[in-house]
Amino acid sequence: MSTSFHPTVRTLLGPGPSDVHPRVLEAMSRPTIGHLDPTFIALMDDIKGLLQYAFQTQNALTMPVSAPGSAGMEACFVNLVEPGDQVVVCINGVFGMRMKENVERCGGIPLVVEDTWGSAISPEALEQTLAANPQAEIVALVQAETSTGAESDTATLVEIAHQHDCLTIVDAVTALAGTPVKVDAWGIDAIYAGTQKCLSCTPGLAPVSFNEAALDKVRKRKSKVQSWFLDLNLVMGYWGEGAKRAYHHTAPINALYALHEALLMLQEEGLENAWARHSANHRALKAGLEALGLNFVVAEEHRLPQLNAVTIPTGVDDARVRSRLLQEYNLEIGAGLGDLTGKVWRIGLMGYASRAENILFCVAALEAILTSEGADVTPGVALAEVQQALAKQP
Ligand SMILES: Cc1ncc(COP(=O)(O)O)c(C=O)c1O
Repeated sequence: MSTSFHPTVRTLLGPGPSDVHPRVLEAMSRPTIGHLDPTFIALMDDIKGLLQYAFQTQNALTMPVSAPGSAGMEACFVNLVEPGDQVVVCINGVFGMRMKENVERCGGIPLVVEDTWGSAISPEALEQTLAANPQAEIVALVQAETSTGAESDTATLVEIAHQHDCLTIVDAVTALAGTPVKVDAWGIDAIYAGTQKCLSCTPGLAPVSFNEAALDKVRKRKSKVQSWFLDLNLVMGYWGEGAKRAYHHTAPINALYALHEALLMLQEEGLENAWARHSANHRALKAGLEALGLNFVVAEEHRLPQLNAVTIPTGVDDARVRSRLLQEYNLEIGAGLGDLTGKVWRIGLMGYASRAENILFCVAALEAILTSEGADVTPGVALAEVQQALAKQP
């Protein structure tokens, strides 16, 4: 007979999900109420306001889609891309490739700006592609490419897109709350994120935000949005302004309690402080990883603080080390994806997981395992580097 499932407690230092804060888990276990209960509607309004803060926007249409980050991606594409639309897709890793797939499935025509994995998206290449394709209507890009740990300059890329009269779709799944994302200041037209990374919330929700220019394109569509569930016109009957809310789908009530708590915690910490914490902890982890002989995939100026991709030393078995970390230390780190499979480890320091104790733990565990796997590691040096870096933190 089956029994209740009690997962082992792990430390999640992979590319996501990251550790969920106990306050968020506690919030999730509160009593379920109805999705049209007036007190729940008030909570929804509060979530919208807190998401506006997280995204740094005044956009009225700012809300969580009731499904994971991929659904946020789809919500942007299915609403904004009509058959025949030309969409410039910037690809420098796995998630840019998924954007291209989305454009194709919407009947759009993808125009690809391709950069090598591990690089940031090149503003010059985007400029050239847009100059050569004056019919393009949308530019899509991933700010924080989780498959490589590279961050692209969203502000500059959006500015270029606007100079060519294009709307922009930005993936901020890994970026949000870990590194600056400024929707209004940068003029981003449509953006989606996820809850399971730097928000320290459970997986399964996708905060999105659309500005008036994006909504104007949705309103002027010639064809129906092909997804009933993600059609913004319909979803807004439930998530829109005012007291009159109509049933669209049964909201994931308890997941929204969790998101509310996670966003409250972000507000309490302050966005700038959260960004600074991710950066400072990244520097401490970097000191330790480099002392272990692990080299970063991404050039320093484009490195994400919340996702550290490092190359696996020659002769060391990727899967064996990750499996030993999990079995012996209950520590999860990420494998390489796509072109980087078997070549890199991805170590996340996201949200609640971005803490000094986790850096010390991860570097100590890696040092022990790499040493026993025969790698050339001088005992104690890496931890001393981490301690020195942590001592410099404010
Ligand atoms: C950059 C990026 N975009 C989209 C997604 C998809 O999010 P989800 O797995 O929540 O559907 C991820 C997930 O890791 C991601 O890192």
